[in-house]
Amino acid sequence: MEEQIIIIGSNGQIGTELAIALRAKFGQHRVVTSDIREPQMPDTSGPFETIDVLDRKALHVLFTKYRPTQVYLLAAMLSATGEKYPRQAWDLNINGLLNVLDLSLKYGVNKVFWPSSIAVFGPHSPKANTPQYSVMDPNTVYGISKLAGERICEYYHSRYGLDVRSIRYPGIISWKAAPGGGTTDYAVHIFHEALKNNTYTCFLSANTALPMLYMDDAIRGTLALMDAPTDAVNIRSSYNLTGVSFTPAMLANEISKVVPEFTITYVENDPRQAIADTWPNSIDDTEAQQDWGWKPQFDLTSITEDMLTNLKNNR
Ligand code: SER
Repeated sequence: MEEQIIIIGSNGQIGTELAIALRAKFGQHRVVTSDIREPQMPDTSGPFETIDVLDRKALHVLFTKYRPTQVYLLAAMLSATGEKYPRQAWDLNINGLLNVLDLSLKYGVNKVFWPSSIAVFGPHSPKANTPQYSVMDPNTVYGISKLAGERICEYYHSRYGLDVRSIRYPGIISWKAAPGGGTTDYAVHIFHEALKNNTYTCFLSANTALPMLYMDDAIRGTLALMDAPTDAVNIRSSYNLTGVSFTPAMLANEISKVVPEFTITYVENDPRQAIADTWPNSIDDTEAQQDWGWKPQFDLTSITEDMLTNLKNNR
């Protein structure tokens, strides 16, 4: 059967690259991209629709028009922006998900992908090698909405048989499209500033370790999960997944191996520090390894080299 795919929220950091990967895999016209706004650099190789995921009627029209077999829902408000607009973050992250799950049931969608996050963990979760199952007491609205979303995904699977699949993404590092409103965004900004100004002012402290993943790995992992046989996908809330864990100081050190003049300074009391302090330092993703063969390919050195090379070549 030929797949017909809709990506909702395709203009963001992950959506931009997922669209390229899915179009390469399934064919340009088999993948409909959609977002609340027109893309800044439109990819005219396939169809695009403007859509607000909170507009149920418009979503109906979209599903009727394209009859998707797979839906990827990436529209969300991230952690730092969510703390500025908690009500809107909850509304978008939860009601957007419910709208897509309901319509996916109604239109017989075969598979739904929805991303969760390391933000589902909280101050009482184990910090090092945080396991799949542990105390989860997120205290950002973003983390709370992702944890509730995980429970809802599992519920739609067990109660209605909907094939929902999910990954708890750590911070995602990439050069094609900018991240927006997250706590892990420093790990992308730092590369741009290193090349532009040889220096970066970091909003997290030198020794704040967070789990991270290079975009190439994130896309490969997402496609691997979506390709896995249904009965191999034992977790229907969301899979722990990681690439590498590092601190701003470790990343700065790695960058200075390529850009020797590079310096870093740190600002204190940024609100994102308090968020980062409640998140895991590193993640145990044994279940993803066992169930569908997860293995990251990029470490801190190769991420740094690839980021700097691509950003230089695309300036
Ligand atoms: N990258 C996200 C954020 O920082 C975590 O899921 O909000």
